[in-house]
Amino acid sequence: MPTLTFLGHAGLGVRADNFRLLADPWFARTGAFLGSWHQFPRNDHLDVPETFDVDWVAVSHEHLDHLDASVLGRLPDRARVLVPRYPAPTVVRRLRAAGARRIVELTPWEPYPLDTSGSWITVIPESSPMCHDAAMLIVADGHAVLNCNDARLTAAQARRAKHLAGGRLDVMAVQTSGASWHPICYAYPPEVRHQIERDKRIGKFRAVQRLVRATGPELAVPFAGPACFLDPELARFNPTPGEPGIFPDSEQAVAWLSEHLPAQRWAAFRPGDTIDLATGEVTPDPVSAAFSYTQGIEDYLARYAADRREAIASVHAAAGEPGPDLPNLFRTHFGRLGTLSPYFLSRIGMTVRFEVTGAYGGTWDVRKDTAGVTVDLTGGTAAPEYTFTVEGRWLQAVLRGDIAWEDLLLSLRLRARRDPDRYNDYLIGLLKHANEPALRAIEEYETTRDADERIVVRAGDTAYEIGRYCPHAGEDLAVGAVVTGGVLRCLGHNFEFDLRTGVCVNARCEPLFSKQVAGAAAAPAPRPGHDLAAAADLESEEVPDGVDENRERSR
Ligand code: FES
Repeated sequence: MPTLTFLGHAGLGVRADNFRLLADPWFARTGAFLGSWHQFPRNDHLDVPETFDVDWVAVSHEHLDHLDASVLGRLPDRARVLVPRYPAPTVVRRLRAAGARRIVELTPWEPYPLDTSGSWITVIPESSPMCHDAAMLIVADGHAVLNCNDARLTAAQARRAKHLAGGRLDVMAVQTSGASWHPICYAYPPEVRHQIERDKRIGKFRAVQRLVRATGPELAVPFAGPACFLDPELARFNPTPGEPGIFPDSEQAVAWLSEHLPAQRWAAFRPGDTIDLATGEVTPDPVSAAFSYTQGIEDYLARYAADRREAIASVHAAAGEPGPDLPNLFRTHFGRLGTLSPYFLSRIGMTVRFEVTGAYGGTWDVRKDTAGVTVDLTGGTAAPEYTFTVEGRWLQAVLRGDIAWEDLLLSLRLRARRDPDRYNDYLIGLLKHANEPALRAIEEYETTRDADERIVVRAGDTAYEIGRYCPHAGEDLAVGAVVTGGVLRCLGHNFEFDLRTGVCVNARCEPLFSKQVAGAAAAPAPRPGHDLAAAADLESEEVPDGVDENRERSR
């Protein structure tokens, strides 16, 4: 009988009659993102040769809590690495650099055989290439697992996955914890930050609720976070008693989701817990059984941090101190970014300030607009719209190409502020992709998609005809939006649009087509608590959300 083992964080292990597969195994003792994130609860008791004696390793995307070089370098010769085909070669390059030898790029939605008995896997990327994330659909000996990891599927994609699997999903694993530097790295007053954190947490729960309701899996399981932070410099981001912020644990997620979708079966698993996909029988891991999210967590984290102290010190040592060439590296780096995409530059249209601390640092401004990129190493801009404060040693790693911008942003080893406080998806998109094919794919996606399909929504007594698909990343607003007070919020990444004008009010984004419909009084009355008449399965939404920066990992 096929089994599914939770390996910690987003890691899954599938054991079928004729193959063994790992998905996004993450065991590195240095954690991920400059030694910032660590597996939580810890899973190092599973870091044994038996775990890696597999035929397949599926890697969903390039983030280092999913693509672990410490695993990929010690796979058996027979193991092949499966990865979604993305517009840019970044993931494949990282896999090769990590030591992966036999790499297979999977075509979205095409089943790829895992054995000769009918088992297969396919990948389901997010609609927009702005985010290189992909779910995995694995059918093992006739049993289906939809591993959503960090991908934000639309309801339509999730339904299509279920259909492709034969109409039944045995397990659906969903991310319920944030993975973003917003708002926790931003300069907000505490009460504002807490409110944003709460809104984002609830918004993520609601997005999962919507997706699970659309598919009705036999069992839904929160996973893929949160991490914990073992470097003393970052310990403030660890969970504290009270509200969980943007990092709710899986048991807190199950509590909320069970209350709001009570007919659905939910479960929280820990590293090493195994479920028999045929019978549903669960075998708890004896080591993880001793863990508690609530009892003795401070001591647990203190012991864990002590165990990882040397590994974290090695990350600091590897970064080294910045040299006198730091300003020139900075200028050269942004000069190169300025050549990649006039489309992105025109949509950024702002000045970004970098306050670089430590040796050879300074206040450096980068203007990005239709004229290109201008670097001012005197910091002469009167009012930069974005400001990042970062130590020169961490910035240097980006400028030298050792890590990507997103690695630095996700490391939480920086501070940020915005004025006005609006997210600019194109700025973060340029930084995180930083290569021409990826940016061109986004431009093509945004400029060639069919924007003509319309739906009608209601805001109180007023009806509006709007574009069906979100101008940000294509979420189907017929099932993926809520309307509150004349503002439509797309549940894809929480961008908000004023229905009177179509203008995005909380992020830099193309406007949503929106036109008031004459004779609105004849439209059907909204259901209680539901303003969006065209969306048959929408939730009422009492709580507005913060925009999701990292795509949320996009902030
Ligand atoms: S798809 Fe991203 S906010 Fe709508």
